[in-house]
Parts: sequence; C-alpha cells; structure tokens
Amino acid sequence: MKKRVLTGIKPTGYAHLGNYFGAIKSAIELSKKEDYECFYFIADYHALTTLKSKEEMDEYSYNIACTWLACGLDPEKVVFYRQSDVPEVFELNWILSNVTAKGLMNRAHAYKAIVERNENDGEEKDNGVNMGLYNYPILMAADILLFESKLVPVGMDQKQHIEIARDIANCFNNKYGNCFVLPDGLIQEDVCTLVGLDGRKMSKSYGNQIQLFTTEDVLKKSINKIVTDSRLPGEPKDVDCTINKLYKLFVSKEQAKDFETRLKAGLAWGEAKKELFAVANEYIKPMREKFYYYQAHKNEVDDILLNGAEKARVIAKQMLKKVRKLIGVK
Ligand code: TRP
Repeated sequence: MKKRVLTGIKPTGYAHLGNYFGAIKSAIELSKKEDYECFYFIADYHALTTLKSKEEMDEYSYNIACTWLACGLDPEKVVFYRQSDVPEVFELNWILSNVTAKGLMNRAHAYKAIVERNENDGEEKDNGVNMGLYNYPILMAADILLFESKLVPVGMDQKQHIEIARDIANCFNNKYGNCFVLPDGLIQEDVCTLVGLDGRKMSKSYGNQIQLFTTEDVLKKSINKIVTDSRLPGEPKDVDCTINKLYKLFVSKEQAKDFETRLKAGLAWGEAKKELFAVANEYIKPMREKFYYYQAHKNEVDDILLNGAEKARVIAKQMLKKVRKLIGVK
C-alpha cells in the first residue's frame, strides 16, 4: 500500500525562493518515490479569503500552477488539480461543519490573531472577519479527509490546522462510525529558516522575498538589494550572512566551502553578490524556461489541472458516497 500524501498551495502571491527550497523542492522529490502517492492542489478557494480581485486570483493561480510544473511536477505521477474543480470538497465541507464545535474555530491561530489585534485597537472583536476566514480550517479538513491523506507536508504555521483536521475527523468517526483516516503533518522546518533580503524569514508579508521566476534582470536587482554590513573589501566577512545562506542552496558542498573560505578571506560584498547571482541564475534558468513556456500555453495548464481533477474526483466521489451513507443521506 502506498502512503498518500496531500498538500494544498494557496495562490496568494508569486512563488519565491523560500517557497521553492522550503516546500516545492522536497514535495516534488517525494512524489518521485515509489512508496508515495501524491495529491497536490491549488487551494484557490482558500485564497479567496485574502485576494482582492479576480485578476489576482487568475494571475496567482496560474503562477503557482506553472511554478510547480516548471519545478518538475510530473502530472502522470502526481494528482495535480484545482480545488475549485472538485465540488465534492465543498459538500464535505458542509457536512464537517456540523461536527465542528464553534469553540474549536475560536481557538484557530489566524482568527485569534485578528481578534487580539482588534481588541488592542479598541475595535469590535470580529471587525474585518468574514465567515470564509472563520471557517477556513474546516475547508482545509475537507481537503485532507476527503482523500484519506495520511501525510500532509506543510510549513510550521499550518501545524494547528492539521490538528484541527484530526479533531474534526475524530468527532465524525465517533458520531457516525469509523470513516476518516487521521492525518499527520509533515512539518517542513526549512520554511521557517530561509532568510530574505533583510535577513528576516523570507515571506510575502515582509516584502523581502526573492521571486523564483522573473527575468534575469529582476533577479540580479533583487540580489543586489540584499542587506549587508559595512565591512570593506579585504575585511573578513561573517559567514552567517544572508548571501552565504542563499549561496549554499544552489551549489555543491565543496563549492559552498570554497565560497565560505573566500568570504572569510575578505571577498568584497559586491563580488559575493555577483557570484550569488551567477549560481542562482544557473540553477533557475532551465526551470525558468519551462515556467515561461507554461505561462504562454495556459490551455495546456488547464488541461493538466482538469485531468488531475478528474482523477481526484473518482476518489472523492467514492468517499462522499460512504460519508452520505453514514449520515443517512441518499
Ligand atoms: N492553508 C494552507 C496554507 O495556507 C493551504 C492549504 C489548503 C492546505 N488546504 C490544504 C495545505 C490542505 C495542506 C492540506 O498554506
């Protein structure tokens, strides 16, 4: 029996290096292993809670889809789909809402953070909260439970959502009989540690990310914006710097060691940035070409995603049939 792995990617921005090294790369490697059966999807209806326009939805959804394909996702091996193309998810979402205590949602971190902010600002506690945001964890539980997913690779920030999915599965199983598999998070620590331009964690919310797929020119400009200290050429550099941390990701161990030695020997920041650009660009180039190919052939992307949704729905329908029977719906 293969282990089922599932993860959703929310299209709320352009993919950056942190996304690639923290999540995409390892998820794709996992999908190439024989003992795993992977379901990776674009969580577009989750993004709806934050996106501001239909243009953003369209742009980011394709950006994420093209990114995964460019990074080597093989649609023959991975069931790759848009969440919105699998209506069974939303039917299950409603069913699960009825075994989910409201108190459980009150304790969800994302919601609690907004309530706390409102209280500090002297606003009404639910100011700016819509029901999509409030119910977000239930939809995520539906994504996971519908496919009997055992492993769910996510960043640290999503850990609580997996625990909530387990709680919901347990409530349903206790009330109606054993039905759902209890999922485990596969927490990817890296997501938390990749540094951005300013040395803080690379994140869209800090505006310090280096976009994965842009033109060479923009990549070069981003790298030039990396904050360094004022040490002059010839002065030894701290190897704990952002440039060194990023450099390592793109090269072999030996190359990384050589770079470190030269930093310690006083390599100038300007030179170090040039070298970082060279290795990053070399690494990204072949993927970037594929990315732009898919961007220019969106109907191919649509076909791949629809095909994936069809495969996903075969399984989703069976599961939903079982659930409907258990709750006594024809
Ligand atoms: N909430 C996840 C995030 O923000 C995205 C997501 C939606 C997800 N559904 C999922 C992740 C199911 C794992 C499994 O990153």
